[in-house]
Amino acid sequence: MERPKRIALAHLPTPLQPHARLSRELGVDLFVKRDDLTGSHLSGNKIRKLEYLLADAVAQGATHVVTCGGVQSNHCRATAMAAAPLGMRAELLLRTPNGLRDELPSPPTGNVYLDRLVGARIHPTDPLGYQSRADFMRDIADGVRDRDGVPYVIPEGGSNALGALGYVDAAAEILGQLDAPPDAVFVATGSGGTLAGLALGFEVAGVATRAYGVAVCDDRAYFRAIVDAIADDARAYGLPVLAPDRYDVLEGFQGRGYALSTEEELAFLAEVARADGLVLDPVYTNKAFLGLVSLLREDPTRFGRRVVFIHTGGIFGLLAHDDALHAAR
Ligand SMILES: Cc1ncc(COP(=O)(O)O)c(C=O)c1O
Repeated sequence: MERPKRIALAHLPTPLQPHARLSRELGVDLFVKRDDLTGSHLSGNKIRKLEYLLADAVAQGATHVVTCGGVQSNHCRATAMAAAPLGMRAELLLRTPNGLRDELPSPPTGNVYLDRLVGARIHPTDPLGYQSRADFMRDIADGVRDRDGVPYVIPEGGSNALGALGYVDAAAEILGQLDAPPDAVFVATGSGGTLAGLALGFEVAGVATRAYGVAVCDDRAYFRAIVDAIADDARAYGLPVLAPDRYDVLEGFQGRGYALSTEEELAFLAEVARADGLVLDPVYTNKAFLGLVSLLREDPTRFGRRVVFIHTGGIFGLLAHDDALHAAR
């Protein structure tokens, strides 16, 4: 079956770099896939998904893209910034503590700064309202239609079968960069699409590589259900059935909860930045990398010899992080 069209947005292939310090310490071959380098303002894992999603939006003649996330959502920023030069305005449903406009950072910081820069319209909602995000986005889309626009709705994190194709491609990219397939590939998991795409990509390639998502919120059962649903939908694009043991979700590294940090996490983030020049973000990549390194310190053989960690970006969220990071130093 023919692959859906994609628009080239990311700078590919991203580098795959050996992590010398931790490989030595842990006795494994640890590589970091630098998807934080897919671009500057268009950086991180969302860009690969948006290549497919925005191509579909353009094909449908969309004038607006409607999507959702936390207040410092990397996905919303990436969507707004990629959509603008394609002639589409972003309508962003952003979760704030009480759904109030004055809870948006003022002056705007991090991802919100960039959302504003490209004229995204922000709709704040509280955590309870956010649970009904699909209804909310339908209402926003209706509003666009009332103004004679054409809306294109993208689910949280760009995590549907179409978006996941970006990581089916990334799995092939990783395999092409190594002389033998890795035993395990790790990624932070917040809405499941990246993990689903990777798992499908290794399934397609027929290699033994397993994909692991490190949950930064929710739990294993929640993400397994999402990944399986995305994989079922991806059959429509000619992708194979996903074997249940092709991937897994690791929990226990959510810490204090979504977008909340502990002192231990922040100390790790600073150590990796100083020792390795690798700048992780507190919400996703730092929790996932700390989770991986902690598990490897307990048992370096647990995931096999060759291990890849995907750095999925998030620098703008780091720059908007509160003073706790500096207080922890
Ligand atoms: C920096 C970063 N890493 C990882 C993720 C998780 O990816 P996914 O939502 O596909 O699980 C996200 C978004 O949620 C993210 O912004």
